[in-house]
Amino acid sequence: MDYQSILDTIESEIEKRPVSGVVASYIPELAKVDPTKFGMNLFCINSGHYSFGASDQRFSIQSISKVFSLTMAMNLLGDELFERVDVEPSGDPFNSLVQLEYEQGIPRNPFINAGALIVADVLVSKLKNPKEEFLNFVKKITDSPSINVNYTVYESERKNSYRNASLLNLMKSFGNVYNDIDTILDFYTFQCSVEMSCKELSQAFMIYANGGKKLADQTKILSPERVKRVNAIMQTCGFYDEAGEFSFRVGLPGKSGVGGGITSVHPGQYTVSVWSPPLNPKGNSELGMYALERLTTLTGFSIF
Ligand code: DON
Repeated sequence: MDYQSILDTIESEIEKRPVSGVVASYIPELAKVDPTKFGMNLFCINSGHYSFGASDQRFSIQSISKVFSLTMAMNLLGDELFERVDVEPSGDPFNSLVQLEYEQGIPRNPFINAGALIVADVLVSKLKNPKEEFLNFVKKITDSPSINVNYTVYESERKNSYRNASLLNLMKSFGNVYNDIDTILDFYTFQCSVEMSCKELSQAFMIYANGGKKLADQTKILSPERVKRVNAIMQTCGFYDEAGEFSFRVGLPGKSGVGGGITSVHPGQYTVSVWSPPLNPKGNSELGMYALERLTTLTGFSIF
């Protein structure tokens, strides 16, 4: 497959495409990002990296971090985790509170904010230094020791965490939150404020395309059974109330973040990451989704 010429085609299509989405502003610092930035990187299991645009520039990974925290929590807690968070698509916005009320504080899945906050609670309980260990895990699977948190973005979200605090309070009232709310919020905001480039995200996600092992040295990070589960949850829940649309248009598991990033996985084949800050009304990168739809259309190849 000539991935580079397919990416070149996508680049020329992207340049001409009008955008109606807007950059996230409920985290004020994210609103300062240049909306015209675009980067794409594809990491093929057999033939390495292909890219264009700002594919080496780091940006705020936001909810993409939920895939890493879920991986760590599954390894620490096993199936017990799924007694506290379900694996059903929510069909509601990522920060919605409504289902929690009638579902007794059990979030629908680990990728909506409510579910990711339960995963954060698990990591706070199980790890001695959750922030440091989370960052070390991301550095390890990426082979990139300079990955770090943007503390300006972190402060900016932390001062505006009203909705996430509500989710935690509501779940605590049902007995599904064990630690202090500020401690969990602090850790969760930290994980969301990690910055990575498209190339680094493709590198990190290779464990989900390569049966749970790093590609470079085949170090085992998680079992093939857990890889299946993480990919399944990405497929059904990775894009909140747009998960069906993403499956329909792209046909790959993936995860988005309000920083404008999306990373997708074709198990056994490649990982692919895109970054374009303007978001559609569901909070997913508008051009990023388009680029991935073009990728699976032009290659004639998806998991379906
Ligand atoms: O908790 C939040 O609202 C953000 N830190 C992350 C949300 C997010 O990225 C949703 N994704 N599309």
